[in-house]
Amino acid sequence: MTSSSLAAKSVQLLSPNGEIKLLINDDDSRPNYQIEFSQQKVIAPSQLGMEFKNAESLSEGFEIKEVVRNSVDTWWQLPWGERQDVQDKHNEVAITFAAKRNSTNRYLVRFRAFDDGIGFRYEVPKQQGLLADIEITNELTQFSLADAEQATAWWIPARGWNRYEYTYRTTALSDIDRVHTPFTYKLKSGVHLSIHEAALVDYAAMTLDQRRPGLFKADLTPWSDGVLVKTKAGFKTPWRTIQISKDAVGLLNSNLILNLNEPNKLGDVSWVEPGKYVGIWWGMHVGENTWASGKKHGATTSETKRYMDFAAKYGFQGVLVEGWNIGWDGEWFNNGDLFHFSDSFDDFDLKAVTDYGKHKNVQLIGHHETSGSVSNYRDQMSDAYALYQQHGVKQIKTGYVADGGNIKRIDEGGIVRKEWHDGQFMVAEYLHSVTEAAKHKISINTHEPIKATGLRRTYPNWIAREGARGQEFNAWGTPPNPPEHTAILPFTRLLAGPMDFTPGIFDMSFNGLGDKSNRPQTTLAKQLALYVVLYSPIQMAADLPRNYVAKLDAFQFIVDVPTDWQESKAIAGEVGDYVVFARHEREGDDWYLGALTDENARNITIKLDFLAEGKTYQAQIYRDGEKAEWKHNPYDLVIEEKSVTANDELSLRLATSGGTAIRFKALK
Ligand code: NOJ
Ligand code: CA
Repeated sequence: MTSSSLAAKSVQLLSPNGEIKLLINDDDSRPNYQIEFSQQKVIAPSQLGMEFKNAESLSEGFEIKEVVRNSVDTWWQLPWGERQDVQDKHNEVAITFAAKRNSTNRYLVRFRAFDDGIGFRYEVPKQQGLLADIEITNELTQFSLADAEQATAWWIPARGWNRYEYTYRTTALSDIDRVHTPFTYKLKSGVHLSIHEAALVDYAAMTLDQRRPGLFKADLTPWSDGVLVKTKAGFKTPWRTIQISKDAVGLLNSNLILNLNEPNKLGDVSWVEPGKYVGIWWGMHVGENTWASGKKHGATTSETKRYMDFAAKYGFQGVLVEGWNIGWDGEWFNNGDLFHFSDSFDDFDLKAVTDYGKHKNVQLIGHHETSGSVSNYRDQMSDAYALYQQHGVKQIKTGYVADGGNIKRIDEGGIVRKEWHDGQFMVAEYLHSVTEAAKHKISINTHEPIKATGLRRTYPNWIAREGARGQEFNAWGTPPNPPEHTAILPFTRLLAGPMDFTPGIFDMSFNGLGDKSNRPQTTLAKQLALYVVLYSPIQMAADLPRNYVAKLDAFQFIVDVPTDWQESKAIAGEVGDYVVFARHEREGDDWYLGALTDENARNITIKLDFLAEGKTYQAQIYRDGEKAEWKHNPYDLVIEEKSVTANDELSLRLATSGGTAIRFKALK
């Protein structure tokens, strides 16, 4: 570490390979930063700082006072993940800005430059005027996108009723108002960037507001009383991140977000188990069953046992059961006070099903839908987790179905307040459920979550989350997910972390084929490819067992595919067009490949140089048949075998909204 207290006007920070250059200035007394990538300006001077309710702002009239440099090159391990070993290689500069008006007001911005992007965060020490409770009313951070008149962006709107569950828009920057992150865009030069944040703890989520053409400003999601962040003297913000890559695929192979999170705080997490599951779920979404009690009730003891039999037979670890507890009989949408988390319906016997599961070696996966009544959930949380733990449940799917801005909380005075899913209150609430669950050795899969920011590194029992349009939209969404959806997700939502998308719908005809009905707008082969393309340590086989039994040959891929990886490589792709991933299983020598395309059929040639040198593999290929096309002929699937080595190439022919899934079985 080197330190200098010389007043400087401009500080430079280079990424380890020298391609990214960050310049931090205090010209005009306004701290700002700018970024060059391969000598091209990608971020023009962009302001830093913040404002408070009852204190002088950290904005104008500041100068660089102290500069501390550091460099890191280490490796660390993920207990589960898309890879086991992660390199953290970066250069850092921590800059203290001091107010010229007096010498007491100061704050620090810590910048890190990696080869795949940059991160920076504010660290505001306790100081005169900022001694106790602090309310942030404005974060001034800007992202002034350079050279972006001809950029293309992929985005979803922020502060909408449907949270993160929108179809992605592909537009020029000029069509953007306020967006969620990860916010991904491509310059005319082909350089791809994605703005997001890492380690979002005890702070409001950052959305981006376009204030002037190309000038995006941090727009923190407020509390119900309008304050953005309530904190205490001596605080740190989450990291503001910008991934930068010469091409689209480079975004996918980045560890930036994880590297900016704190190491595991839970110690031994061998009780966190990646794996596959089935469940009493899709039946409700297509109207065959109900969450509510009655004739069509899905979550019965006998139905659960039937699913457990199916899971045991095909090697699935868990069975998710939704609609088991009291509360589903009323108008539960946006109305979660109805829910009881320790009381089951009469036709569901928690002990009987978990005893049955134990003898079949299948776990029950718990389910807690809160419908956004988080005070109701919190009151019952520790009893509910203890109950599940007592019955051997190791994973709970939670849900926060409520319109954006309509999360119900009861404050200290007993008054009902309505909050956003991504405001500071909920940021803390979601994490609270994860840390409470950890005490019971339970992992959490959050639906209607706060966006992922890499906290799975710190809390490995936060095993997955939703946070985008998932498969369920194909059952009832208007419109269902378009063919390009899963060709956009890896480059946007998935940059943040694993998603519980719930792939694997085999019966696409439940409402009729064609493009006018609700159905997955994909081929069957593409449903298989999703297991490799959309990374998650837990993957559901989402369809009804009978639909798998009807196509056991295709189902074999889902039976075989693992969910935990030694290494992952994105090998080809363009945002919104197509994407190809290869992944190496954690325990064993097999590789898997998933390729998928948007509404356009295409041919892709793939080098197999990711395979181990000198080994022969049996490629078990699940591909679109010659006549496959998603609208009227999605089921045309060819399964074939080929012997291949690392020196071979494979030509993949993808149908309209089609895909290819391959298991490369290592031969001795
Ligand atoms: C929304 C979740 O995303 C979905 O998977 C679940 O079935 C419903 N909420 C009910 O909890
Ligand atoms: Ca949902």
